[in-house]
Amino acid sequence: MTLTPVFLEIQNEIAIITIDNPPVNALSHAVRSGIVSCLVQAEQNDEVKAIIIACQGRTFIAGADITEFGKTPQEPSLPAVLTKINHCKKPVIAALFGTVLGGGFELALSCHYRVALSGTKVGLPEVTLGLIPGAGGTQLLPRIAGIALALEMISLGKMKKVEQLTEYNLIDLLITDVNNQDKSNINSNLLEQPLVFTKQLLKSNQTTKLIEQKPIESTPPLTELCQQWRDKLAKKARGQQAPQRAINSIENALLLPLDEAMKKEREFFIQCRDSTQSSAMRHAFFAEKSAAKLTYKAKPLTINSVAIIGAGTMGGGIAMCFASAGFNVVLVEMNQDNIDRGISAITTRYQQAQSRGIITAQQANDYLALISGTCDYADLSDVDLVVEAAFETMAVKKEIFSKLDNHCKPEAILATNTSYLDINQIANITKRPEKVLGMHFFSPANIMKLLEVVQADKTNEETLVTAMALGKKINKISVAVNVCYGFVGNRMYACYGREANMLLLEGATPTQIDNAMTSWGMAMGPLAVNDMSGIDIAYKARQENPNLSKDPTYFAAANTLVEANRLGQKTSAGFYHYDQKTKKPSHDEKACQLIANKAKALGVKQRLDISDEEIQNRLIFALINEGANILHEGIATKASDIDVIWLNGYGFPRYIGGPMHYAETIGIEKVVTVIEHFNETLKSDYWKVSPYLLKQLEDALVNNN
Ligand code: COA
Repeated sequence: MTLTPVFLEIQNEIAIITIDNPPVNALSHAVRSGIVSCLVQAEQNDEVKAIIIACQGRTFIAGADITEFGKTPQEPSLPAVLTKINHCKKPVIAALFGTVLGGGFELALSCHYRVALSGTKVGLPEVTLGLIPGAGGTQLLPRIAGIALALEMISLGKMKKVEQLTEYNLIDLLITDVNNQDKSNINSNLLEQPLVFTKQLLKSNQTTKLIEQKPIESTPPLTELCQQWRDKLAKKARGQQAPQRAINSIENALLLPLDEAMKKEREFFIQCRDSTQSSAMRHAFFAEKSAAKLTYKAKPLTINSVAIIGAGTMGGGIAMCFASAGFNVVLVEMNQDNIDRGISAITTRYQQAQSRGIITAQQANDYLALISGTCDYADLSDVDLVVEAAFETMAVKKEIFSKLDNHCKPEAILATNTSYLDINQIANITKRPEKVLGMHFFSPANIMKLLEVVQADKTNEETLVTAMALGKKINKISVAVNVCYGFVGNRMYACYGREANMLLLEGATPTQIDNAMTSWGMAMGPLAVNDMSGIDIAYKARQENPNLSKDPTYFAAANTLVEANRLGQKTSAGFYHYDQKTKKPSHDEKACQLIANKAKALGVKQRLDISDEEIQNRLIFALINEGANILHEGIATKASDIDVIWLNGYGFPRYIGGPMHYAETIGIEKVVTVIEHFNETLKSDYWKVSPYLLKQLEDALVNNN
C-alpha cells in the first residue's frame, strides 16, 4: 500500500515520479510536497538523466484540490512547485491522459515536454469556479501556444481534446496505439511510450526548455483581440469578475516579463479565490456532485428503449435528450399528422444544432434514425421506460396512465413530465404505483440541464435510482425531490412571480422589475420570461391548482392581461409590446394601464417610490422563505439541492450560488429581519417567516452564546 501520494522509481537513467491521489489526483498539499521531494531526489541523483511525471488511476492531475480553497495555504505553493519543475536541470516529461485540468495542465505546461494519450482532454476551467489559473496558466499557455488559444481556453474555461491542439506546440508526442482495451492496466501501458520518447530525447541530446522571460511581441491585433474577448465575456459572463481578470492577466503576457506577469497573476488569483463569487461557484460545483448522490442501496435497472407520450415542444425535446444519448425512442401521438409534425420539428432542431457546429451531420442522422412514431399503445409492450408529456390536466394524465399500465410490460417504469400535478394520484390509477414517478424536464428540454426526479409516496428505490442514473446518461443534472404542488422549482417560482405581480399592482413597471432582476444577476427578468413562455400557461396551471390562494390580488396583473388576450410574445403583446418583425420588446403603456385599473378595482394603492432594492429583496427573499418551507416539509432533502435547481433551471446567477447559499452568505439574522420587515409592512399572509428559518436563527443564537 502506498503511504505517500507521490513516489519515485528509477528505471535505468530515467526517474519516474508517480502521483497516486484518488479519485482525480488533485494537487493537495501532500501531493505538492511529494512532487518537490521526489524532484529534488531525482535532480541530485547523478544516475538520473531525465524525469517523467506520471499518474496512477483514471486521470493525470485534474486540478488544484478545490477542498483546500478557503483554508490556510500551506507551503509549497503550486507556483513554487511549477517553477522548480521548469528550472529543473534535467528534462522533465509529463505523461498525460484523462482530464488534465487547472493546476494539472499548468504543471504539464511547466514541464519541458508533454506526451499525451489520444483522447486526453486539457483545459483551464478555473473561471467556472470564479477563479483564474493561479500557477502560471495565463502566462505559460500564451507563451507556449499563443495569445489567441489562451484567450479562448482560459476565458471560456472549456476543455479541448489534445487532437484539436496539434498545431499549437503543446504536445510533443500523441500516443495512439496504446492497448486501450486493457483499462485495468492503462498506466503501465501508458508509461511504455513516454519511456521510449525520453530515451530518444536523451540519445539526441535534447535538453530542458525554460519558459522565456521576455514578453510576447505585442502587435496591435493582439491587444485588439484581448479587448474583443473582454467585450464578448462582458456579455457572455455578465457580472462575473473572473473572466475579465483572466483576460487582463493574459494581456500581461504581452506587456510584462514572465516573473512580473506571474506575480500579477497570483494577485488576481488571490482576489478571485477570496471573493464571494468564487466561494458561490465552488459551492455550486460541490452541490451538483452531492445532488447526484443518493444513499439508497438499490441498483439502477437497464433501460434500452424509451417511449414519449406527446410529440409537442416538450415531448419532442425530451425525445431528443434520449436519442442524443443513444436510446431508441418511440413518440406516441393521437394521429399520424401529429407524429409527422413532431418529427419534423425535431429534424429542424437537429439541423439548427448542426448548422451551429454543435453536432455533425452524421450525428444528426444517427439521432434521428433512433426516433420513430406510433399511434398505437400496443406498440409499447416492450419499452423499458415511458415519459408522458401530454396536456397538463389530471383527467388526461389518468387516462394515459391506465392505458400505459395495460399495455406496458410489468417491469416498465412510467414517468410523468407534469410540472404541477399530484403524481400520487397519477400513480394510484395504475397497478404499479411503485414504478411511477415524475421526470420533470425544463423547457427547452433538449437544452436545459435540470431534471427534477420526483419520488411519489409509493415510488420504490429501484425506480428512483434508475431515473437518477438515466438523468446522468442523458447529460442532465438531476435532483431528487418529493411531491407537492409545483415540486421544488415551480413552487418557489410561484412565490417569486407572486411578488413581481404584486409590485406591478403597486405601480412598478414591467421594465423596472425585469431590469432590477437582471442587474441583480438573473439571466432574464420574470415578466420577460412569462411573456416568452406564454402568460396563459401559468394562468391555466393556477386554475388547476386545488389550493389556489383566494386572495383576489394573487397574480391579478397576469390574469388581467390574459383576460385581455395579451398572452405574451405569441400575441405580440403581454407585459410588453413586441415588434412583429424583430420580436423586440418595448414598454407598453396599455399593459400598465390595464394593471393600474385592476389595482384601483382591488383597492391597491399605486406608489412611485418602489426602488430596485425593494424589488430585488421582495423577489429573492420570497424565494428564500419558500425554499425554507420546502426544507421544513422535507420536499427537498438539502438546501444545496434547491440551489442546484435554481442554478440549472431558472437562470439564477452561478456566482451567487443559489438562493439558499445567498441566504447563508448574508446570515440568518439578516434573512429573518428582512422577511419580518415585509411581514409587517406588506400586511399579507405570504410573509410568515418559515419555521425552518426560525429554527436556524434559534440554533445560531444558542451557538453564539
Ligand atoms: N479537487 C478536489 N476534489 C475534486 C476535484 C478537485 N479539483 N475534482 C474532482 N474532485 C472530486 C469530486 O468532488 C468527486 O468527489 P466525490 O466522489 O467525493 O463526489 C470526485 O473527485 C470525482 O469527480 P467527478 O466529477 O464525480 O468525476 P468525473 O469523472 O465525472 O469528472 C473531472 C472528473 C475531473 C472532469 C471533474 O471532477 C472536474 O471537472 N473537476 C474539477 C476540475 C477543475 O475545475 N480543476 C481546476 C481546479 S482550480
